[in-house]
Amino acid sequence: MRLLIQGGRVVDPARNIDSQLDILIENGTIAHQGRGLSAEGAQVLDAAGLVVSPGLVDMHVHLREPGFEAKETVATGCAAAAKGGVTTLVAMPNTRPATDCPDIVALVREKAAPTGVDVLPAGAVTVGQKGQALTDLAALKAAGVPALTDDGMPIQDLALLREAMFQAKELGLPLLDHCEDRDLVRSYAVNEGAVSAQLGLPGRPAIAEELQIMRDVMLAEDTGAHVHICHISTAKGVDIVRRAKARGVRVTCETCPQYFTLTEEEVLCQGAMARVNPPLRTQADVEGIRAGLLDGTIDAIVTDHAPHTAEEKSRPLPDAPSGMVGLETSLALALTGLYHTGLMSLSRVLALMSSSPAALLGLSKGMLCVGRGADLVLFDPEEEWVIDKEQFVSKGRNTPFHGRTVRGKVKYTISRGTIIYQEG
Ligand code: DOR
Ligand code: ZN
Repeated sequence: MRLLIQGGRVVDPARNIDSQLDILIENGTIAHQGRGLSAEGAQVLDAAGLVVSPGLVDMHVHLREPGFEAKETVATGCAAAAKGGVTTLVAMPNTRPATDCPDIVALVREKAAPTGVDVLPAGAVTVGQKGQALTDLAALKAAGVPALTDDGMPIQDLALLREAMFQAKELGLPLLDHCEDRDLVRSYAVNEGAVSAQLGLPGRPAIAEELQIMRDVMLAEDTGAHVHICHISTAKGVDIVRRAKARGVRVTCETCPQYFTLTEEEVLCQGAMARVNPPLRTQADVEGIRAGLLDGTIDAIVTDHAPHTAEEKSRPLPDAPSGMVGLETSLALALTGLYHTGLMSLSRVLALMSSSPAALLGLSKGMLCVGRGADLVLFDPEEEWVIDKEQFVSKGRNTPFHGRTVRGKVKYTISRGTIIYQEG
């Protein structure tokens, strides 16, 4: 099986390449790159006008299976990933049962195999994500997890968390932490501030996130573990990470399109659709997140794709679950918010969505080298379109971006040499 991608603008951030090149794929791997390539009998993809980049690596996705198949299944989540240009994703363990043992890791991988998307289940840190007893972290590592996390259920027991960090360091796995102090966020997913006051709801304060980031940074420094802060949402949080990195602490972090695009005001017009943990914050926070993306403090753009059913999201704000889908909109939102605004180069945006998360997870992905697995996305960087949740292939329709005009459209997604998504 040979595939020739002709005439595209190849942007490969990790190798600093941005030029007109053809790519020949043979048996799932990149065989040649150059100008004017031809290949007898190969399928030819005309990539004129398209950007050809490494397939996106999304290190924060909730696939919901097993246990919550009404929200999403591995198959529908992977279809959404492919449509969004994502070829590799890390699946969060808050399923039922939780991904806290090798059997569930194997189950999720088995379900994902036919989709063509490389699904890497993260292992839970504590049994059932209950925050009480550590899982067999070495067994999870042996089962192939790329990272450990209790996302959605932050660990509060410091002795347990510290022990988990010692073990994670020993195993060479990053520990991903959802930072929100549970004592400070007993209430709804609205930022504590003007909007929560207006709604008369108790809010989730920024300090709840920042205190835990500070705590994690201190523990990372103490244990030598690689700690990765999930979906960072506040300007001060970014600053804590910036200072920690400057003194050599092994800390990395990620953010999501919603945190560099939307503010808490969205809750006033969209209610539960804008409910997410951590919550949407203020304009100053949006700017702080953008600054962190620009100066390299933030290492990755992820979706935190968190599908819920229409019924669940139609409930009043206090009763609806938190989360928003993102796989089918993340590239367009990143290009629209960060590239088309002139804030950063195309290569930088793509690094944040491919090579940089791949590197921090230690994956040999996110790069278009000859000899590597051919995971690519081909997209039109200029095409304007309107986000329409009815067109989603995800089961989740819970996006606050419905009706928004964006620029940048995925045309083909290729995983290990096979076209797993083609527009139209
Ligand atoms: O809003 C969120 N939803 N934040 C999380 O951390 C978990 C996620 C979910 O699983 O729905
Ligand atoms: Zn989370």
